[in-house]
This record gives sequence, C-alpha cells and structure tokens, in this order.
Amino acid sequence: MAMQRIAVVTGANKGIGFGIMKELCKKFDGVVYLTARDEGRGHAAVDELAKLGLTARFHQLDIDNAGSISRFAEYIKKTYGGLDVLVNNAAIAYKNAATEPFGEQAENTIRVNFFGTLAVCHALFPLLRPHARVVTVSSSAGHLRRINGDEPAATALREKFASPSLTEEELCSLMKQFVEKAKDGTWKASGWPGSTYIASKVGVSALTRIQHRAFEADSRPDLVINDCHPGYVDTDMTSHKGTLTIEQGAACPAYLALLPPDIKEPRGQYLWHDKQVVDWVNGPTPAAY
Ligand SMILES: NC(=O)c1ccc[n+]([C@@H]2O[C@H](COP(=O)([O-])OP(=O)(O)OC[C@H]3O[C@@H](n4cnc5c(N)ncnc54)[C@H](OP(=O)(O)O)[C@@H]3O)[C@@H](O)[C@H]2O)c1
Repeated sequence: MAMQRIAVVTGANKGIGFGIMKELCKKFDGVVYLTARDEGRGHAAVDELAKLGLTARFHQLDIDNAGSISRFAEYIKKTYGGLDVLVNNAAIAYKNAATEPFGEQAENTIRVNFFGTLAVCHALFPLLRPHARVVTVSSSAGHLRRINGDEPAATALREKFASPSLTEEELCSLMKQFVEKAKDGTWKASGWPGSTYIASKVGVSALTRIQHRAFEADSRPDLVINDCHPGYVDTDMTSHKGTLTIEQGAACPAYLALLPPDIKEPRGQYLWHDKQVVDWVNGPTPAAY
C-alpha cells in the first residue's frame, strides 16, 4: 500500500472549496482529493486546476448520501490506509427569496450541513493518522451569539450549546428538535433563530468542540480540529455579493488544514477569516459578517 499523505476537500468543485484546493495543491506535501457530488463538475474542476499547473485527484462524494460516503471511505482506506487532512466545506444555503416552507428548508439544511458533515466525520475519522488536521467551514452565522435574544428560551438554548459537557447525541437531538419545531411553527418560542442556515452552522461549530474533546482523548497523537468563518465571499452561495475573493475566503481554512505538527494552538477553536481566534460562546466577533 502506498504510504502517501492524503488530503480531502468536500464540495470542492467550485467556490471556497475550489479555492482551498488551489492552496492545498500548492502547499500540501501529498495527494489532494477534490471531491464533489457531481462527477462531471468534479472532473471539470480537476481540469481547471490542471490548467493552472496544479495536480489533484477526483473522487465522487455526496455528503448527503450514505452509500457515497461509505464508498469513498472504503476507497481511501483500501488505496492509502489513512487520511491526513479533511476539510468539511460542502454545504447548502437557501436564498432569502426561497419559497419552500420553513420546515422543509430546515429539514434539508440540517440534513446536509449538519448530519451530512457528521456522517463524513464518522466515516473518515477512523482513518485519520497521527498529526491529522480537520477543518470544518462554518460561518459567521455559526457563532453561538447568532442564537440571539434575551428571553429564557434563547438563553437556555445557548447554555445547552455552550456546555463543555454537551455530547454528540445531545447535539444531534437538539438539531432534530429544531427541524421538528420548524415544521410545527414553534421554533421561535423555543429560542431558535428564524434561519435554518444559522441553526445548521451553530450545529457544526458546536460539533467541532465535541470532536476536539474526542481528539484530545484519542490514542492517536496530535489530531487537531478547528472551524472557521471564511468571510463574506464572492461565490454562488452569496449570489456573488460577498466582498472577499475566493482566494481570501480560502485562506483561513487552508491555514487550518496545513497547521504544522504539534502546534499548541489553535486546537478546537473557532476562527475568523483573518485567522484570529474568536470566543465562540461569548464573542465578540470582529464584525457581523
Ligand atoms: N460564501 C460565503 O460568503 C460564505 C460565508 C460563510 C460560510 N460559507 C461556507 O463556506 C462553504 C463553501 O461555500 P461557498 O460560498 O463556496 O458555496 P458554493 O459556491 O455554493 O459551493 C458549495 C459547494 O458545496 C457543494 N455541495 C453542496 N451540497 C453537497 C453535497 N450534498 N455533497 C457534496 N457537495 C455538496 C456544492 O456542489 P454543487 O456544485 O454540486 O452544488 C459546491 O461545490 C460552505 O460551508 C458555506 O456555508 C460561505
């Protein structure tokens, strides 16, 4: 079996994921996998990189499809025996003008952004080798203070998310509760914000903290996970209204993916796009977006 270092980026065929690919192809000492849910778009993106003189490999990976995730994990295991970098970048966001009912938006957004990311982690974390780096691309929307409001329900919800002993099971149950409450129209009374994207990103940022605790207790040395807000970036997701370039948006996730061995920090942190560590529970954030 080839002993090569391996990096994987999800949702890498366009936008910030494609920007992260460019950085990793230039700087990562090993093989970089561009993964995408659509084979055609994935191969086209690998060809784009080749035109820039960069070499990436492609594998199909739909984070919303259990079969696709297990096929990919099996492929990496069989071909390389392990994994050194995972960037959880893939996500969806409904546009403000979307007409789908709130409950439907909640179900789809939480399923892809939270449970899809979690499923990829469950499949790939067993393959992580010592000194592996995991990055989850969250958002400014993923800061805990985006569950806002001073009413008791919002305060209680924030306290649950902020608890240093929150378990993965409890977090999954919170995410499921949000979807149920979005469907029956009681989300607001239960303290949740009126944005399914915020709920999903607070979820992945809370997940990062839980996964960090698991990494600290792992027998494999020096596993590091962080999450970040990539900035407000000019991509399809923002309908190209974002003020940062894709290269600027890729800078922090790529920095976290390439953290050198045995660094003291950041570990288990939430970072802003300018690479500063932000207190996820109390803030403040450097800017709103
Ligand atoms: N742009 C911003 O200002 C901004 C700000 C904060 C956070 N973020 C976060 O940054 C990340 C990248 O966003 P972006 O702006 O680059 O968005 P984007 O341009 O819409 O790209 C999203 C990528 O995710 C992929 N994707 C969606 N669902 C997937 C699935 N089920 N399986 C695999 N891939 C899937 C998309 O693939 P297809 O091409 O097949 O659709 C695409 O490659 C996301 O996590 C986003 O939430 C972005």
